[in-house]
Amino acid sequence: MSELQSKILKLLEDGQFHSGESLGERLGVSRTAVWKQLQKLEAIGLQLESVKGTGYRVPAGFELLDQQQIRDQIKVPTQLMAARLEIFQHIDSTNKYLRDRADNPQYARSLVLAESQSGGRGRRGKTWVSPFAANIYLSALWDFERGAEALEGLSLAVGVAVRRALLEVGLSDVQLKWPNDIYIGRKKLGGILLEMLGDPAGYCSVVVGIGINVSMPPQAAAAIDQDWTDINSQLAQPISRNRLAAALISHILCLLDSFQASGFGSYRDEWQSADAFAGQQATVTTVRDAISGTVVGVDSGGALEMKLASGEIQRFIGGELSLRLAK
Ligand code: BTN
Repeated sequence: MSELQSKILKLLEDGQFHSGESLGERLGVSRTAVWKQLQKLEAIGLQLESVKGTGYRVPAGFELLDQQQIRDQIKVPTQLMAARLEIFQHIDSTNKYLRDRADNPQYARSLVLAESQSGGRGRRGKTWVSPFAANIYLSALWDFERGAEALEGLSLAVGVAVRRALLEVGLSDVQLKWPNDIYIGRKKLGGILLEMLGDPAGYCSVVVGIGINVSMPPQAAAAIDQDWTDINSQLAQPISRNRLAAALISHILCLLDSFQASGFGSYRDEWQSADAFAGQQATVTTVRDAISGTVVGVDSGGALEMKLASGEIQRFIGGELSLRLAK
């Protein structure tokens, strides 16, 4: 992003109208130059309103992510702090960015945040709707020495860590839906996407991707194909995305640091206490079939346990499965 675009964004953060002329004057450029940059910002998802004769505004205002503000609010012992925290105004996908760098030792224990993503990745090949300066798009790259088996349940444990962060910033009734969704009141607030690289039996890297809806603009939400919610419709006051980012990072770093030693076992009870579907009739859809039953909970490896009509308990392991409540 150009310096001029960043400066325009800083002026628009207040949510007030600014004429093209006044923006140009403050930045020492022409109205046309301002207009051109505004077009580019709109193209990456900035929700800009323009009123003839009055100017431009971003109706609800916004708060840009700020490296220093986030660092100041991260609460982890110094030795746990990630080696690098990068913030992009625009990127294809924060997960892809770290995947592409997983072999580079300089990126070990890295964190990436973005204001917007053009190719945000969701589970099961879906796109994650990622408009500008509205939500949180965060990825972390972490190395593990003991292979994929030792990481059983990691994606569920990430859900527990994300829930802890959300409770810390003032949300309540945050639930978890197997395997990787964050729910409030039957609506999806966020999702987690883990991508594993390297040797499944030995040294491997994991990219942990987290998307949380904070203030989803209605235009962007039109592309979401399920019931969704965002943080600002759950709270009386808008939340600071910098504070939220810091809380998420703090909880994720603690989890990643301890997971290999603790495993999912020490997160299981907490996960089950927040299970959105526990005791309910639901259907798991696999590539081949749809299996219905009553959700019992998760086992110590994070597999879903479902009681079938026959009384038998069937286990399902994450990946490309989807779980829906029975209609
Ligand atoms: C899901 O489908 O529920 C998982 C969504 C994960 C989205 C996040 S946003 C940050 C990171 N980068 C991506 O491309 N995807 C994840």
